Amino acid sequence: MKFFADTAVIDEIRDLHEFGLLDGVTTNPSLIAKSGRDFKEVIAEICTLVDGPVSAEVASSAHDTMMAEGERLAQIADNVVIKLPLTLDGLKACRHFSAQGIATNVTLCFSPNQALLAAKAGATYVSPFVGRMDDIHLDGMELIREIRQIFDNYAFDTQILAASIRSPNHVKDAALAGADVATLPAAVIKGLARHPLTDRGLEQFTADWAATGQSIL
Ligand code: E4P
Repeated sequence: MKFFADTAVIDEIRDLHEFGLLDGVTTNPSLIAKSGRDFKEVIAEICTLVDGPVSAEVASSAHDTMMAEGERLAQIADNVVIKLPLTLDGLKACRHFSAQGIATNVTLCFSPNQALLAAKAGATYVSPFVGRMDDIHLDGMELIREIRQIFDNYAFDTQILAASIRSPNHVKDAALAGADVATLPAAVIKGLARHPLTDRGLEQFTADWAATGQSIL
């Protein structure tokens, strides 16, 4: 399973990159607004830090403007992935960019049928939003399982990018459900390494080692 960082904060991306934990980055207009920085500048900076795919989302929901925005964003770097909303206009733009060999991420997916449309439009990634489904008492992980089954039935290449992931349990469940990628806030990625028994075991080993009075170096 690949891990993408779901953030537009450069320091978080640099930090995860240094730990070797990063396969790509996703952003959205809310994350860009939170960063307080110029959108195109941030995307360009992220693309210099990360070799993997970097999703940059169009701002318009009207087809013609969406196309122009996507074309502009694709010029920023070769690893930019054009993120498009799961609407008929977004799917039409996805079909166009895919035919040009430009990578796409169809976002705001909340049903298996929407995911099926994204795959038929040639999307590189489709992003089902697990956490936002759970927020309204629907089963976000069931959505991932159903999309996996459909894509396997028809051998679609579109990768399932589990989005709106909020906890380590979401990561485990998405991995078990066969998601290709999970996009995660930096704190969730780092949190995956944590376990109280690891902390306790390490404390004990450190104390026992100190009692030997030895040094490895
Ligand atoms: C990723 O592409 C999405 O924009 C993101 O995961 C949404 O997460 P949220 O529901 O926590 O805002």
